[in-house]
Amino acid sequence: MNHFDYRDGELFAEDVPVRAIVEAVGTPVYIYASATLTRHFEVMREAAPPGALIAYSVKANGNLSVLRTLAALGAGADIVSEGELRRALAAGIPGQKIVFSGVGKTASELDAALSAQIYQFNVESEGELRLLSQVANGRGRTAPVALRVNPDIDAQTHAKITTGTAESKFGVAWADAERLYALAKDLPGIDACGVDIHIGSQITDLRPLDLAIEKAAGLVRTLRAQGHKITRLDVGGGLGVPYMLDEEPPPLPSAYAKILAGHTRDLDVHVILEPGRLIVANAGILVSRVTYIKEGGPRPFMILDAGMNDLLRPALYDAWHDIKAVRPDGELTAYDVVGPVCESADIFAKDRELPASKAGDLMAILTAGAYGAVQGSSYNARPLTPEVLVKGRQFSVVRRRPTFDEMMQLETWAEWLKPL
Ligand code: LLP
Repeated sequence: MNHFDYRDGELFAEDVPVRAIVEAVGTPVYIYASATLTRHFEVMREAAPPGALIAYSVKANGNLSVLRTLAALGAGADIVSEGELRRALAAGIPGQKIVFSGVGKTASELDAALSAQIYQFNVESEGELRLLSQVANGRGRTAPVALRVNPDIDAQTHAKITTGTAESKFGVAWADAERLYALAKDLPGIDACGVDIHIGSQITDLRPLDLAIEKAAGLVRTLRAQGHKITRLDVGGGLGVPYMLDEEPPPLPSAYAKILAGHTRDLDVHVILEPGRLIVANAGILVSRVTYIKEGGPRPFMILDAGMNDLLRPALYDAWHDIKAVRPDGELTAYDVVGPVCESADIFAKDRELPASKAGDLMAILTAGAYGAVQGSSYNARPLTPEVLVKGRQFSVVRRRPTFDEMMQLETWAEWLKPL
């Protein structure tokens, strides 16, 4: 579901012509639709058990206005760094709706999260458990903790985004879990009240999720039998979204919800979900202008003014993103769609049929709202991509394009080099 449709042969974002945004902001530019954000959040809320905390995974898209849009709907946040903590708080997400995941939380990050009185620390190692105990105890606080346990289940997704196998760096080994809960009980400043899992992202087969939740629910029972007061179950994120318009859509949140309800109905736990991609992926597009059509290879190259620094997913994961002309006319022609970055991996699509295009035409790369702008860089000294949020007939630049001077401002001349 998205709100990017054609009207009179021209692509719109909600009620705004994409062309109008490009005229105001230039290209490349990310455009997000509030209506899609809202709809996806509501779908997730309807699917989740009543009272569940929907902790939107900030890493998918941490734009402050995106966060505030979700905060206004009641979203919490799943964060992985102090930067994300500060963003979530700045956007109006209360500490009491924030969970903190990640394998490498530093003492100062733990401290910042304690100050914000977050809902839960998803602890991923014995070292982190001991450090959190020290930091919390030193401040006279008790940290609510869920241990992220690694259920050793293959999520059947791309190798670079699978996290739940024993080989993966995430979570504590299943075999260590009971020992670590016993340790947690003895550590000052720790209240181990939850179990947490997250087995991967862009999961399109519900079976691994089913197995993982079943295993986690089993652990809740085992731990309770051992005298631990476990009141929360965090099932992570990971539900896949459709990237191809004509592919069979991945399982609906409602099908996932059925599985979740089946495992948690009689468990008497507060359920936490950490959806990221599901909320934002199809709420965003990346719009780019064709700089050149270059003939000479097996197929013409369509060279865009967006590159892998703007949207890394195709280069990093061979990810497929649908591409549409903003004003399609002309016969379908096969192109290799590439960016301007000096890397052979800077390819958005190979042998892709698109309407015959010329320099100056506008292209939209779809499903770019998740892991798009956040994974952007200024490689090749290219400015970070601006972001625009649309709501009905309105649009607003929610992150502007930095100037070249601003991009150089963080740097200073080495003392032994004379300024020019
Ligand atoms: N919770 C935890 C602990 C996570 O590590 C993640 C994602 C999520 C929740 C949200 O997962 P989602 O619902 O978005 O699948 N950059 C990659 C995806 C990396 C996902 C990292 N963790 C990509 O572009 O496909």
